[in-house]
Amino acid sequence: MRILLTGHKGLLGRTLLPLLADHDILGIDLPEHDITDRAALLALTRDFRPDLILHQAAFTNVDGCARDPVLAYRVNGMGTQNVALAAAEVDAEMLYVSTNEVFDGRATEPYHEWAATNPINAYGRSKLAGEWYTRHLLRRFYIVRTAWLYAAGGRNFPHRIIALADERGSLNVVTDEVGSPTYAVDLAQALVALIETHAYGIYHLVNAGIASRYEFAQEILRLSGRAHVPVTPITSADFQRASTPPLYAPLANNAAAALGIHLRPWQDALAEFLQEPSCREQ
Ligand SMILES: NC(=O)c1ccc[n+]([C@@H]2O[C@H](COP(=O)([O-])OP(=O)(O)OC[C@H]3O[C@@H](n4cnc5c(N)ncnc54)[C@H](OP(=O)(O)O)[C@@H]3O)[C@@H](O)[C@H]2O)c1
Repeated sequence: MRILLTGHKGLLGRTLLPLLADHDILGIDLPEHDITDRAALLALTRDFRPDLILHQAAFTNVDGCARDPVLAYRVNGMGTQNVALAAAEVDAEMLYVSTNEVFDGRATEPYHEWAATNPINAYGRSKLAGEWYTRHLLRRFYIVRTAWLYAAGGRNFPHRIIALADERGSLNVVTDEVGSPTYAVDLAQALVALIETHAYGIYHLVNAGIASRYEFAQEILRLSGRAHVPVTPITSADFQRASTPPLYAPLANNAAAALGIHLRPWQDALAEFLQEPSCREQ
């Protein structure tokens, strides 16, 4: 299959690339290619003629999105409009990676694929705009919502917790932000399985189980041999930031599970991640 991969230098893109080695891949990312440049994207897509576009390029800094919501909409909303138009132009399938931040976080159980969206921050609104364009411009699409990704290389929550524990000897972590920690390798494998089904639709792909940031941090410390580091529970009200995250936004995987695509519990995935050589050097 010929696959156009947007955002191939990012956390998920880098994780996906080795799993797609049997395919003919063209990766595009900043600064060489900008998805907000519609004419250039259309020309490149016409030239490459992909069967599938895996679209994960995005402005993912949630606080940056809060500070510049116009740019967030331009990249995540209208950039995705451009990618969908390019897919339509060459009759390619498209997979758009979206987020749990399309939900408002006021739920009391994990969000199902059919739950009503209601983003409460600029990042979530811009990603929901990307979902809208995908749904309305294409017939053959997957929308995959995921959450709290981490992988080797670059910034990620587990390495940040370990680094802070070693620097400061104690941590403050919020208890009232709850989600689905997800190992990008597990997500990437699930995406590869999903694109083989051609069962277009909306999916929630996250590691199984839920955790607060506090529980996630405690498990990171335990698994990395730092269980002795004291962690003080705080609430998000104590933690000033530009964006407001949805407080309770774990995702439930019903649709992919019905196709036989399951992700393991987040604790098992985290344990494997922390065995990676890059983690053992921390
Ligand atoms: N990370 C998470 O926890 C998480 C959770 C839920 C959903 N998601 C979604 O999953 C997808 C992948 O996330 P990720 O963590 O891999 O993100 P990432 O590491 O930030 O990677 C995104 C890539 O897209 C590039 N990009 C940004 N603007 C672009 C533009 N205008 N044109 C072309 N490329 C552009 C970025 O380049 P620069 O780095 O130079 O900006 C980066 O290489 C995103 O769609 C994100 O919304 C992520």
